Amino acid sequence: MNLALINGPNLNLLGTREPEIYGSLTLPQLVARVTEHAATLGFGIESFQSNVEGELVTYIQQARGSSQGIIINPAGYSHTSVAIRDAISAVGLPTIEVHLSNIFAREEFRHHSHVSAVAKGVICGCGVKGYLLAVDALAELLK
Ligand code: DQA
Repeated sequence: MNLALINGPNLNLLGTREPEIYGSLTLPQLVARVTEHAATLGFGIESFQSNVEGELVTYIQQARGSSQGIIINPAGYSHTSVAIRDAISAVGLPTIEVHLSNIFAREEFRHHSHVSAVAKGVICGCGVKGYLLAVDALAELLK
């Protein structure tokens, strides 16, 4: 059983990008933490990051063939992308949306995510722990 771990734009800069908001872990370190945790529950992780909206859409479409669930931090596209929302809806895989920061405690334009309505759950403001909680949530949903 595999989970797709999808990170959107600018998350490749984790570790150096506004660490007071997003923490000091790099993306490879984050992926390693999630992979390690998923393995304890019997899941493999298929990780993908892109700064390009269409590439994220294509990856979500292809996840149907290789993964049983999706963990996604759509980053800035959360607030703008109908296409990513539609892709998640189209593939029908249980999806948990994750944000490192508490988007509701930040600028107003971050308060709405197009993805939330098609996600099984949304976790925000818990930092990297949010991704581990998302693995737990999907493991429970896929039982
Ligand atoms: C983010 C929050 C978004 O508003 C922002 O555009 C990001 C990261 C987070 O993980 O907190 O790039 O998704």
